[in-house]
Amino acid sequence: MGFIRNWRLKAALQAALSRLPGGERINDRLQRAVGGLRNLESNVAIKVDDWYGIVELLDTVGRADVRGMDLAEIGTGWYPVLPLCFSLAGARSVLTVDLTRHLSAEMTFEAVAALEAHLARISERCGVPLEEVLSRYRRLRACQSVETLLAAAGIRYEAPQDAARLAWLDGDSLDLVYSNSVLEHIAIDALGPILTEASRVLKPNGVMVHAVACNDHYAHFDSSISFVNFLAFDEREWKRWNNRFHYQNRLRAPDFIHLAQAAGFVVVHERRAVRPGTKEALSKMRLAPQFAHYSMDDLAATTVDFVAIRSPGASDTSGGDAGVVLGFERGAAKSVCAGAADKKDRLRVP
Ligand SMILES: C[S@@+](CC[C@H](N)C(=O)[O-])C[C@H]1O[C@@H](n2cnc3c(N)ncnc32)[C@H](O)[C@@H]1O
Repeated sequence: MGFIRNWRLKAALQAALSRLPGGERINDRLQRAVGGLRNLESNVAIKVDDWYGIVELLDTVGRADVRGMDLAEIGTGWYPVLPLCFSLAGARSVLTVDLTRHLSAEMTFEAVAALEAHLARISERCGVPLEEVLSRYRRLRACQSVETLLAAAGIRYEAPQDAARLAWLDGDSLDLVYSNSVLEHIAIDALGPILTEASRVLKPNGVMVHAVACNDHYAHFDSSISFVNFLAFDEREWKRWNNRFHYQNRLRAPDFIHLAQAAGFVVVHERRAVRPGTKEALSKMRLAPQFAHYSMDDLAATTVDFVAIRSPGASDTSGGDAGVVLGFERGAAKSVCAGAADKKDRLRVP
């Protein structure tokens, strides 16, 4: 809903839509017609950058070459750019799950076409010969239906599917579990079980990477507020603005790390970014009391990306977040994102 510049108006409209039967579909259509999904080509370029950032993290643990690997993605969204990039780079299989069946065949085909401009980058980043990437790409371009396209790419799409409930998937079976722009949209109480499930399905020493845009997404289209504006609201007030289609949990960077550790992971690398102006905004605003104990750096991180290794013997972890101290009131949040203005905060998104 790019035409709405006022964040409160957008929040109110989405809250109203979320109460309507079929509101999810109407919201998706609006995103496509006038909102964040309007310009698919530039969105694909942003998602390829996000994928690149995830492979950079994989590189820190020597796993940038994904050829022959079995992967799972949490939170597919509307078109599977990251799974397609991994497939083109030679992953054997990519399972991608989403709580909501957003995936659009039309956008998926458009995304494949837009990926043509990025093939050299994919090959270079993963250290895979361009000819290999090109030959996989040609196979995808020849597909006539989204089903054959996904099958040719080795992508399995499961939706609706909660990433916390993958009992049908064997334990110790995957090399990598990742997500992009997802964890910040998941209710606090659901995060522990999701990460515990990731630990179960990963092979011992399997890798987990999450790119988390822990910034106020309303600021992406309302330039009158900062990317930490949401930290001014206590839980009761925030509930008024936090709707099912644009759910934001407001966790800060260390909370995600602690949750991963509690689920049996060793976090080996963490990368943060801070949007220009964020610290100044923080120094001028009144924080809600629940954020008072965080350090300035922890509050200011507008993204946190991390790579974690499933520690041997971690698959028997239960409960996931037992004993984790979050700076947050628990149980207050409900529902998930079907995020609208979801652009990553890589210091390059307006
Ligand atoms: C903002 S979108 C990001 C989509 C995609 N990863 C991207 O980068 O464009 C977040 C997605 O996570 C999905 N999601 C939220 N909670 C989930 C859960 N518990 N299990 C699986 N998917 C979930 C939402 O339905 C939504 O499609």
